[in-house]
Amino acid sequence: MKPAHVLVLGAGIVGTQAAKVAAGLGAQVTVMDINLNRLRELDDFMPKNVVTQYSNEYNIREAIKTADLIVGAVLIPGAKAPHLITRDMLKTMRPGTVVVDVAVDQGGCIETCRPTTHENPTFIIDDVVHYCVANMPGAVPYTSTLALTNATLPYAVKLANQGWQAACRQDAALRLGLNVVHGEVVYKGVADAWGLPLVDVADVLEPATV
Ligand SMILES: NC(=O)c1ccc[n+]([C@@H]2O[C@H](COP(=O)([O-])OP(=O)(O)OC[C@H]3O[C@@H](n4cnc5c(N)ncnc54)[C@H](O)[C@@H]3O)[C@@H](O)[C@H]2O)c1
Repeated sequence: MKPAHVLVLGAGIVGTQAAKVAAGLGAQVTVMDINLNRLRELDDFMPKNVVTQYSNEYNIREAIKTADLIVGAVLIPGAKAPHLITRDMLKTMRPGTVVVDVAVDQGGCIETCRPTTHENPTFIIDDVVHYCVANMPGAVPYTSTLALTNATLPYAVKLANQGWQAACRQDAALRLGLNVVHGEVVYKGVADAWGLPLVDVADVLEPATV
């Protein structure tokens, strides 16, 4: 029997882990991204049953015809995810194909996806099974909370100890996370998505007093 064909859209954190698991189970995996450097990195460390391809409409249309499982894992920071698979494309997929739109929390990269929960995780459109749980780590709440807080607690401590303005002035990573300050949008992706003016964060953070 031929191995299952798994298509992963987006080669970031989510896409790489999805590809690793699928490859470990013996599937033939295709990973697509628009970041060629990231695809080269994957080519270096992924096993031979993972191939990489540039993400464009033609390649996606071809790959979904044979995919058994499609994982949507794209992210454009601060912006809505692009619809890489549109409703009309579902008809070209084989009945029973499963789509898992992990990017659903950013609007989803599959047009027909809408957020679902662990209680009722799937729905079917045009014989394609959709799984779009917006909080997938919620399936393992204890482990995922520990993992998340290991990464976020140092920032929370800085905010609590220094106050948000001083902490953001001093820590570039925290500053990069600011979206709106004193009513002004300071994050390009958000400004672009809402058609609002972008203000330099340095112009709106209050200057240090000591
Ligand atoms: N539903 C959930 O429970 C859950 C859990 C974790 C993450 N997420 C979501 O999953 C998504 C991916 O997260 P991540 O941490 O892997 O992000 P990431 O930034 O590590 O990776 C995103 C990748 O998408 C790629 N990309 C952008 N446009 C693309 C396009 N047109 N075609 C193909 N690739 C494209 C980027 O180059 C990048 O490599 C995010 O939307 C995140 O919020 C959801």
